[in-house]
Amino acid sequence: MSGFPVRRLRRLRGSEAVRALVCETRLSADDFVQPIFVVEDPAAAGPIQALPGMERHSLGSLDGEIDRIAAAGIQAVLVFGMPSDKDSTGTPATKPGGIVPAAVRRIRARHPGLLVITDVCLCSFTDHGHCGVLSNGHIDNDATLTQLAAAAVVQAQAGADIVAPSAMMDGMVARIRANLDASFLSDTAILSYSSKFASAFYGPFREAAGSSPQFGNRRGYQLDPANARQAVEEARLDAAEGADMLMVKPALPYLDVIVRVRAAEPGLPLVAYQVSGEYSMLKAAAANGWIDEASAVDETLTAIKRAGADAIITYFAADAARRLAHAHS
Ligand code: PBG
Repeated sequence: MSGFPVRRLRRLRGSEAVRALVCETRLSADDFVQPIFVVEDPAAAGPIQALPGMERHSLGSLDGEIDRIAAAGIQAVLVFGMPSDKDSTGTPATKPGGIVPAAVRRIRARHPGLLVITDVCLCSFTDHGHCGVLSNGHIDNDATLTQLAAAAVVQAQAGADIVAPSAMMDGMVARIRANLDASFLSDTAILSYSSKFASAFYGPFREAAGSSPQFGNRRGYQLDPANARQAVEEARLDAAEGADMLMVKPALPYLDVIVRVRAAEPGLPLVAYQVSGEYSMLKAAAANGWIDEASAVDETLTAIKRAGADAIITYFAADAARRLAHAHS
């Protein structure tokens, strides 16, 4: 009795109404986080070629961008800052008057209700483009922790709700938590880029953020794309260090990792980052007329959520939110 002709799954696909009734995964603008790029030097503002439709904003053009994002129904942004000056240890990232704290204050003033998440890393702030402090040609894990924690504290002091360390240094979550707490910032949450892979899909972002490593690559600190069990271990360790939320990044090529981390850490919200290369591939194919952008994008976002992500960081956030609002009106 368990099969055809008694069972006919098509009965539940016959109309919009029945499909809606049995739909297992629904997108919501509440789940989306919109990344934004802010440059200290206004002359560096403007469109980002490798990320069609995205721009580097100056502090001056930030207000309009934040208005558009909020009007689309987005409630959370992820801020990336690009300083005018860089050095070998990324000190511009630790300055209270630096570009990220300045952007946070600006966003806070404009839209007090918007959730502000800040990326905590050194790669845009170091002259060598690596995510950590260099010593003798190596990325010095423990020296980097000092810089990351200092950066997180100035961002939180500026009003960031959530700091998001993305440097893939061991112990970064524990050190940031300790320094936040010591600075009376115990309400600031940590979203750890816990399972971040050494991916070719970050290419367009590095153009946007001017953060390409000037020598070598990031395989000495980011996860090997071949390693799912190690990705779960990273998530487990970050949870133990006090992360409030975990992340898998990139998203679509790592749906299996999303499933595993979701199962291994059921108590923590899980965020997936649909990264720059994932965005640009879809944009490029759509621009050529090879795929329908809206339906292809929504399919990827649905797949990421179906795999177990609670929230999705995506360059499509505002677009997708606008689409959802139209579908409901
Ligand atoms: C900083 C950082 C990167 C991304 C987010 N934070 C770049 C990298 O690790 O090289 C990538 C985001 C994207 O590609 O959209 N470490």
